Amino acid sequence: MSLLRPSLIVPFLAASSVFAADFKKDIQPILERNCYECHSEKTGKKKGGFVFDDLKTFKMDIADNDVAQIRPGKPSESHFLEVIVNDGKNHMPPNENLSGAEIKKITEWISEGASFDKDAPKLAPTAVKKSLPPIMSWTSTEGKTIKAGFVRLEGENVVLRMPANGQEASVALTRLSEASQKLARDCAAP
Ligand code: HEC
Repeated sequence: MSLLRPSLIVPFLAASSVFAADFKKDIQPILERNCYECHSEKTGKKKGGFVFDDLKTFKMDIADNDVAQIRPGKPSESHFLEVIVNDGKNHMPPNENLSGAEIKKITEWISEGASFDKDAPKLAPTAVKKSLPPIMSWTSTEGKTIKAGFVRLEGENVVLRMPANGQEASVALTRLSEASQKLARDCAAP
């Protein structure tokens, strides 16, 4: 496991107070769909030694210290989120990407304290920032995929930042797949 934790999550929008992520309702289904196949006590697959369905075990990965996978209130220092959003060889799930909406939910849940109990007190809203991963996958109507960061929506175009040279490029939304158009709108949503 890498202990290097570059701050891959960039602050995106100002603090917002009207959201709350409920682990059982919002987070567990995402992990069930995308992670339990390889990280589950039930199926006995414990890739990298991690299981996320047995909450007692999962809880041991959640703490505010340097080795925990999830640091409550600190999504940008949580390795669990980093491997979901990064583009490196430890990207999770290995050959897929979570949707922008799923990543947002997980980010919110960590920001709010990463509790399994929806009635647990949330961390102060001032500590909560909506965050977006810098690099996401975008697919064109022809099925070509590029990796780029979301900058903003501009009318019917989405402005993306190219990781290779850091330059911005404007792409007509109509040239993107439906899922990518939705991702752009999700990213721009307040
Ligand atoms: C197809 C199987 C598979 C799926 C699905 C999968 N993982 Fe993994 N995961 C692995 C393997 C294999 C490793 C061990 C990699 C290693 O140690 O180099 C791993 C390791 C990890 C690690 C430790 C990474 C590190 O840097 O040491 C984390 C955190 C993780 N997975 C989270 C997730 C999350 C969260 C999901 C769902 C969003 C997920 N994984 C889905 C196979 C999978």
